[in-house]
Amino acid sequence: MVRHLTTTADLTDGEIEAIFEEANGYLNGETNQKLRSRLVINIFFENSTRTRSSFEVASRRLGAEVVSLDVASSSESKGETMHDTAANLDAMGASAIVVRHKNAGAPKILSKYVKASVINGGDGAHAHPTQALLDLFTLRQALGDVRGKKIAIVGDIRNSRVANSNIKLLTRFGMEVILVAPPHFLPKRSNVRATWNIREVVDELSAIMSLRTQTERHERPIYASLSDYAVNFKITKELLGDRQIYVMHPGPVHRNIDLDDSVLSDPRSLVLRQVHNGVATRMAILSKFVLEY
Ligand code: NCD
Repeated sequence: MVRHLTTTADLTDGEIEAIFEEANGYLNGETNQKLRSRLVINIFFENSTRTRSSFEVASRRLGAEVVSLDVASSSESKGETMHDTAANLDAMGASAIVVRHKNAGAPKILSKYVKASVINGGDGAHAHPTQALLDLFTLRQALGDVRGKKIAIVGDIRNSRVANSNIKLLTRFGMEVILVAPPHFLPKRSNVRATWNIREVVDELSAIMSLRTQTERHERPIYASLSDYAVNFKITKELLGDRQIYVMHPGPVHRNIDLDDSVLSDPRSLVLRQVHNGVATRMAILSKFVLEY
């Protein structure tokens, strides 16, 4: 049976552990050509910098051929339905299709029409499972045992698929998530602890995950300027003090809005480590979904 990765709930704890073990091997220099002569198609209906290139690098390192189609040249803009796009990708013989779309649920729809495994590269504000997996992997690498440790997710949580997937995955693996945002950026319904004032919780934290303000998903401008938002929600060195708090961000970072320059260059920043680990994690994910299903 073909299986697809639409949310982290598609994987059992054991499968996630196995993915992490394989990813660790890649970080330690293991190489293989498991996906030799397989075709991975990246179809990105929405912009991406690092996710798309991360999947490309991961696929190539395993010997796969990669074709990346982006929004400007995709035929959806010419009126083709998702169903027909899918049928065409299938006809090219893809083993895996990595899809990003502005609409929540698009990868699920695509998966109904293809023989390949569909991997969600981010759908609307719904889910970004591979990002959450690489984030958990990175947290474990930094913190060791993550159970009982606390992480603040800061910023535009309501519109963030990264936050959505991380809230589910990190709590499932025993972390306590605290949401830090102004009320209009908090999820409408949520039983996760929340505050607008990070200073209230900073002493409890082992990590902070800062998010970009998703201006493209706002129906109308919420802040007069992003610098108004930054007054309360930018992560600064002054806020961290000498606490051992790791700082993460999925990128792209709004410098000096989400994170201060000095925080980005601080040894407590895991931002580039996330990108580095992302390739190894996606290699393990791709090999699982291409070879096992
Ligand atoms: C994010 C995304 O596109 O969901 N970036 C990423 O995939 N690393 C976050 C964002 O766009 O702010």
